[in-house]
Amino acid sequence: MKTKIDNFAHKSKSWDMSSKRVKNAQAISDAIIKDIKLTKDMKIMDFGAGTGLLSYFLSPFVDTVVAVDNSPSMLQEFENKSSEFQSKTKIIEADLSCDTIDKKFDGIVSSMTIHHIEDTKALFEKFYNMLENNGFIAIADLEIEDGSFHSDNIGVYHYGFDIKDIQNIAKEVGFKNIKIEIVSIIKKPHANFNIFLLVASK
Ligand SMILES: C[S@@+](CC[C@H](N)C(=O)[O-])C[C@H]1O[C@@H](n2cnc3c(N)ncnc32)[C@H](O)[C@@H]1O
Repeated sequence: MKTKIDNFAHKSKSWDMSSKRVKNAQAISDAIIKDIKLTKDMKIMDFGAGTGLLSYFLSPFVDTVVAVDNSPSMLQEFENKSSEFQSKTKIIEADLSCDTIDKKFDGIVSSMTIHHIEDTKALFEKFYNMLENNGFIAIADLEIEDGSFHSDNIGVYHYGFDIKDIQNIAKEVGFKNIKIEIVSIIKKPHANFNIFLLVASK
């Protein structure tokens, strides 16, 4: 049996202590709330939810957030603070580069995770199949960068994404009403990194 490696085990406990991460998640959430009419009957999935930074900010606007992640340690942190959420929460430990989840959602959100998945098109096809009709995706991640964003690139398959390329992938998979914009900038001492948000509907 293949041994599972938790690439975030050494980061999970201190993840939320970074004010840059919290501010970034809040900016992504603000943009999602502006672009998409969230309602209190919606069940959304947060792909790569981690400790729940994005889910937390969206929780007042939906019925249920389902946190999907393959890191037990990050999901433990999510669970520890789930009583602070203003929605129901569920946790599913799954690796969407190989697993499938036989559930449908009104929307799928994701923050800073899809660069960890090698096959972006296959992932978007999975998202498409997991959405109710007229469901939405709201996916935020790094715009193309030079590989210096992470201090180590273990588990990183993409140094960000070219905006046009990712828009085309969403289109090829069948998504409609695709919109992409820069919603946040993460400032590090050596460089600034743009964060895009791609929203689209099924
Ligand atoms: C950079 S963190 C982002 C966490 C959170 N979304 C945030 O913005 O703070 C990436 C998350 O994606 C998860 N992840 C990476 N590869 C994954 C995969 N193949 N399937 C599910 N989750 C994955 C990691 O465990 C981690 O929690």
